[in-house]
Amino acid sequence: MTDAVQPQYKGPQRVFSGMQPTNGLHLGNYLGALQKFVRLQDQYECIYCIVDLHAITIGPDPQNLANRCREVAAAYVAAGVDPKRSTIFIQSAVREHTELAWIFNCVARMGWVERMTQFKDKAGKDAQRSSVGLFDYPVLQAADILLYKATHVPVGEDQKQHLELSRDIAQKFNNDHDAPNFFPLPEPLIQGPGARIMSLRDGSKKMSKSDPSDMTRINLTDDADAIMSKIKKATTDPLPVPENKEGLAGRAEVENLVGIFAAVTERRVEDVLAEFGGKGFGVFKPALAETLAAKLSPIAAEMRRLTADTATLDAILRDGAEKARAVAQPIMAEVREVVGLWSA
Ligand code: TRP
Repeated sequence: MTDAVQPQYKGPQRVFSGMQPTNGLHLGNYLGALQKFVRLQDQYECIYCIVDLHAITIGPDPQNLANRCREVAAAYVAAGVDPKRSTIFIQSAVREHTELAWIFNCVARMGWVERMTQFKDKAGKDAQRSSVGLFDYPVLQAADILLYKATHVPVGEDQKQHLELSRDIAQKFNNDHDAPNFFPLPEPLIQGPGARIMSLRDGSKKMSKSDPSDMTRINLTDDADAIMSKIKKATTDPLPVPENKEGLAGRAEVENLVGIFAAVTERRVEDVLAEFGGKGFGVFKPALAETLAAKLSPIAAEMRRLTADTATLDAILRDGAEKARAVAQPIMAEVREVVGLWSA
């Protein structure tokens, strides 16, 4: 277990993470998030959220939003998040997320939020036309985490800055209210390999569902044939697999494939290179594709089964929301008291 983030913080060690409700989950989501969520259950109390309120910051989708949430819930369960041990729930089902976000809006400084690079990327050239919600997105994220006094947050590299903001908000709240250890300062958990899964065609771009070419990614629902053909056509170079990590320098696509193999088999990159170093991609690629198919096909089958069984999924999500509220509501009551809001 990682060291306590503040030696003086005496609350429980708790993991919180969230995923956007998106259909079209891919290998990057699996290795970067789901597989880690599953493993963390052995070490921590874990709370996993589907962030529908974050999703509406980029536009409405009332017809599909609930089903997109169900699909991610199905992926959590299919990948091995156990709803009995961990909490799986939909953000908007626990109203305290928005309540705490408002309080944090009054803690966070304009300058802090204006620095967030993800907003600049998502808003593009015409930031004036983006929603206020998109600007405020990282403050809601801080509320997600701190509503549960979570100490550890498994996220991708791209969320590091948002985690820093969460820590700044926690720290300022604690200072302003003279409550030094009220909130923990949550730590990101960003471990490789698998921390960053890149496009199969361009090792400088992240694997993404928005890439126009489906050949750049492995979808969680791809069958063994699709996986084989995508991996065989993945960009490499004429050299064999290198014998050591130094040999990966300047070979981003090769590094990505080796990283995927290591992550999916939960081995070290060095060990994968020890096995395949000196061999050609004619050997490595089929081995990788078969390993991936063996890992993903039971998950895809379980996702299909669960998404067809809305009643079961909704029961899991109702139960999850209840468990989440049982943690969140007492913390929110404490926050209200610390802030000095009226209660009778
Ligand atoms: N912003 C995160 C992402 O896009 C999703 C998210 C929302 C999240 N709230 C969170 C992640 C809280 C961790 C903790 O990946």
